[in-house]
Amino acid sequence: MTKRNIALITGVTGQDGSYLSEFLLAKGYEVHGIIRRSSVDFRQRIAHLEGRPNFHLHYADMGDSMSLVKVVGKVLPTEIYNLAAQSHVQVSFDSPEFTADVDATGVLRILEAVRTNHLEKTCRIYQASTSELYGKVEEVPQNENTPFHPYSPYAVAKLYGFWIIKEYREAYNMFCCSGILFNHESERRGETFVTRKITLAAARIAQGKQDCLFLGNLDSLRDWGYAKDYVECMWLILQHDKPEDFVIATGVQHTVREFATLAFKYAGIELHWEGEGVHEKGIDVATGKTVVAVSEDFYRPTDVVNLWGDPTKARAELGWNPQKTTFEQLVKIMVKHDMEKVAADHVASVTRINLAEYLEKGLVK
Ligand code: NAP
Ligand code: GDD
Repeated sequence: MTKRNIALITGVTGQDGSYLSEFLLAKGYEVHGIIRRSSVDFRQRIAHLEGRPNFHLHYADMGDSMSLVKVVGKVLPTEIYNLAAQSHVQVSFDSPEFTADVDATGVLRILEAVRTNHLEKTCRIYQASTSELYGKVEEVPQNENTPFHPYSPYAVAKLYGFWIIKEYREAYNMFCCSGILFNHESERRGETFVTRKITLAAARIAQGKQDCLFLGNLDSLRDWGYAKDYVECMWLILQHDKPEDFVIATGVQHTVREFATLAFKYAGIELHWEGEGVHEKGIDVATGKTVVAVSEDFYRPTDVVNLWGDPTKARAELGWNPQKTTFEQLVKIMVKHDMEKVAADHVASVTRINLAEYLEKGLVK
């Protein structure tokens, strides 16, 4: 009998969900995604997939067990990718309870939905764990054996998700695994994560549609990869012969300041940095204008400042290439996309400029 390949993706409308859907459809999977109702339809990332015969959407919510039990029972997936989350670290300080409900208890609800439908033996589960678990890091670089020290309500919620996945693996012999993914970005990244905030602002500033970009901690170090490369790893983790957890990272670290310098360079602006801490400024060498400034509004009560992943295990056991897209290529892809978007989008640019103004005032994190 041919193997049924039926994937259920929670978080299908997000950055990773959209790339993973494309990846699995190309592999011949039947792909089902859960969406939640919203007063406006914001499904841009998957709009191009809707209407495809193998792509199906279902209403459910990570906070609603019954809806998850019903969808799992209807779809009978062979693989579940649990990507749904309140994924913004700074927002988790403002909405900690919601974050815990979706990012922690939501994982339990998925596991129980699988058990309630008696799919423990036939359905493999991928959990979107995170390098934020290392938090106030206890060693660099971080690998699968590095102790966790979560440092935000988001990370604490994700820690529960990590451990409940491990618990169900051991208690019920279920094939469930965590990918401990370091930051991965793309032209589809949400606009309030630091990389996309920078590439959009660099494009607007280069085209005279914004004056200045306000950022928080410029010294923060991240291991940034390309989201399109990372979804392949999610799939590889579930094809492995045994259920295990993997660190997924590039193994290369950069500061927020370095990301900004390169993004502005690709947008045609050479930056010169002056000052320190909250007084630091990025100055356009050609005009002498300050185009990047620091605002304390974007500082976090506790900030994770030194993420650097060691992808040795993923490379050795999954055959995954952590350097498929380099840091320079990633920044170039994002800036090119945003330069075209800002240039083309005359009508939407009104809204964009408003958002940029909010960002400048520190009202939207
Ligand atoms: P994202 O773009 O923010 O997408 C999050 C997804 O979760 C969206 O589809 C969102 O739906 C959905 N969602 C949120 N609350 C929900 C709820 N109550 N019920 C159902 N769906 C809900 O995040 P991402 O960057 O793709 O990340 C995917 C996953 O990987 C997340 O779990 C994130 O925490 C984790 N992760 C991300 C990174 C990274 O660097 N990107 C690194 C490590 C781990 P709406 O569209 O309706 O809001
Ligand atoms: N968002 C944001 N906005 N971050 C800023 C800013 C700013 O204006 N200025 C500096 N930063 C710093 C943050 O303090 C943080 O240290 C770093 O830039 C990265 O912030 P984000 O891009 O918001 O990502 P994150 O690392 O907090 O979280 C992302 O990666 C995690 C994996 O490590 C998210 O995708 C999480 O869902 C994911 O788990």
